[in-house]
Amino acid sequence: MIHAVYPGSFDPVHNGHADLIRRAARIYDRLTVAVLDNPNKHDQTFTTEERLEILAEVVAPLDNVRADRFEGLLAEYVRTIGGNVIVKGLRAISDFEYELQMAHLNRQLNPDVETTFIMTATRWSYVSSTRVKELARFGADVSKLVPAATRERLEAKMQGRGVVRPSPRTRSRR
Ligand code: PNS
Repeated sequence: MIHAVYPGSFDPVHNGHADLIRRAARIYDRLTVAVLDNPNKHDQTFTTEERLEILAEVVAPLDNVRADRFEGLLAEYVRTIGGNVIVKGLRAISDFEYELQMAHLNRQLNPDVETTFIMTATRWSYVSSTRVKELARFGADVSKLVPAATRERLEAKMQGRGVVRPSPRTRSRR
């Protein structure tokens, strides 16, 4: 039985994440999608609870997938829940160096766990949580990039903060 853990910040979940979850669920017997709960990270848009709520909605249709949160070292968390594989997505070469370093570190911390990679689907290869938030901040429609659970919360959050619109003076004249 292979129990895989897909860790991430998921701030917030976008379609690339959701696609990877569905594909990993077909490969592994069990999949735990684990949100990093980092109380020292103050630049997050969504709280750990909100990110977990969104993930719970995204994984609800998948019988062998659950959403969870973790603190501290990933390798330790995987050990405590009895996982044997870490799964990550690779969008481009630019992701590779960071992921390679993490895979080596995690293997040193927990040699029983292998890190595996799934290539992000081409159609989502340009999507990141950072870009999605930037688009939403300027009032752009992100409905093609994120699941409904994310879109609703993102809209609510941006309404609370006020969408950034260019002032009339900076708008280009024709
Ligand atoms: O979605 P992200 O931001 O790429 O996810 C990064 C994450 C959460 C997988 C990574 O930051 C992580 O595993 N953090 C836990 C701390 C840890 O185990 N670090 C590795 C050794 S320094």
